[in-house]
Amino acid sequence: MDIKAEKLKLRCEVGLLGGISLIAGTMIGSGIFMSPQLVLINIGSPGASLVIWACCGLLAMLASLSYAELGTTIRESGGEYIYILRTAGQPIAFLFIFTSVAVVRPASLAGVSLSFAINVVAPFYQDCPPPDNVVKCVAAAGIVLLAVVNCLNVRSSMNIMVFFMAAKVLSLAIIVIGGVVQLVNGNTVNLENSFKGTNVNVSSIGLAFFQCLWSYDGWNNLNYVTEELKKPQVNLPRAVMIAIPLVTMLYLLVNVSYFASLTPREMMSSSAVAVTWGNKVLGGWGWLMSLAAALSAFGSLNGTFFSGGRVCFVAAREGHMPDILAMAHVNRFTPSPALIFTSAISFIVLIPGDFQSIVNFFSFTAWFFYAITLCGLLYLKIRRPDLPRAYQVPIVIPILVLLAAVFLVLAPIVDDPQIEYLYVTLFILSGVIIYVPFIHFKLFPGLLDRITVFAQLFLEVAPADKNL
Ligand code: ARG
Repeated sequence: MDIKAEKLKLRCEVGLLGGISLIAGTMIGSGIFMSPQLVLINIGSPGASLVIWACCGLLAMLASLSYAELGTTIRESGGEYIYILRTAGQPIAFLFIFTSVAVVRPASLAGVSLSFAINVVAPFYQDCPPPDNVVKCVAAAGIVLLAVVNCLNVRSSMNIMVFFMAAKVLSLAIIVIGGVVQLVNGNTVNLENSFKGTNVNVSSIGLAFFQCLWSYDGWNNLNYVTEELKKPQVNLPRAVMIAIPLVTMLYLLVNVSYFASLTPREMMSSSAVAVTWGNKVLGGWGWLMSLAAALSAFGSLNGTFFSGGRVCFVAAREGHMPDILAMAHVNRFTPSPALIFTSAISFIVLIPGDFQSIVNFFSFTAWFFYAITLCGLLYLKIRRPDLPRAYQVPIVIPILVLLAAVFLVLAPIVDDPQIEYLYVTLFILSGVIIYVPFIHFKLFPGLLDRITVFAQLFLEVAPADKNL
């Protein structure tokens, strides 16, 4: 292998369409096919469910507009990590990356890949629940396949993104059309008195939000790859303004269609509402919905991979992760070590993981860090008004999102304290044990050198540079 003196750079391969697909394609994944009934169970009535779906869409929109300002002010890739690093400083950024790499990312990969697997195997096990091992092996196979594609080249992973996004928008459109047909035929019983039975206690609202926000998660995905985006100052805000309203509208219409076709009881007893809907409305073609849900999860998995590998890569570049993770393949320009590392950890989470608990845990931790990131934005707006910004949001927007984030994180703890939330908090703080000796005091500097050189030769990777 020839050693190049000049540093490698990741290429700018993501245009506006790629950006929209990266956002919408990651957002539309498992949630809209699996969680509408969980929102309904928590909140109690179809009307209030729809209100929750609309509020979450609005929250995702306001949050991503705030992130668009961050992304055009701090132009490096890395999402929350780089924003926290540049505003709150090293220790908190390290705690973020530690939690993100060790659990949040792998948990979201595991959650989406489980939903992919459940839907892939569903048609083969019509009369009984599929064995756990089969589901987990299929989920792992999905992760391996995507890891390989993402290591091979950026363009094919972008093509997968665009293709699967089209497929899932089409399948959601089928559900919407099915719903319109029901409504035209006068099936509006479930939508009459639609607020009857609403639960108004704080923890039900909080949990309904957690389930629903899982479906919207991924709204921040483009901020992880701003260095690879063409003309980020224009394309970042534009992609957000197109993708998020599109997804919100689809989600609302799909929910209306579920409510028009299924009774609340049918919905609540279903484990995957889209499949129940398919069996009732499409009859013999019901399996199409399992296929659509599987394809949708696969595309979202790809988006999560694409951005997840990048975060690890940016953190390694800043010295918060081992050097090898900041390297890119010498010819393919993909950050393969970071991608391989992220998949390896997802396998570990996959072994004990189940979809439901992953979702609640994920939303809690994710919103905790979104809140810290938004504080960073407020800090920049107030303290550094001089910084050049290609895009600005009115300050009330991040303030509103911050209040919502604080509510989301605190509501379940205050109203119904559970020991798991304490574990999560302790886990986040345990990052300090690694930070102090290895990063702050830089003890054992050459610890990983041999492994780095070996892995570098084996994977044909070299240090990559910022792409600004
Ligand atoms: N919204 C996606 C879904 O419904 C989950 C996305 C998780 N990935 C992420 N990068 N946040 O399945």
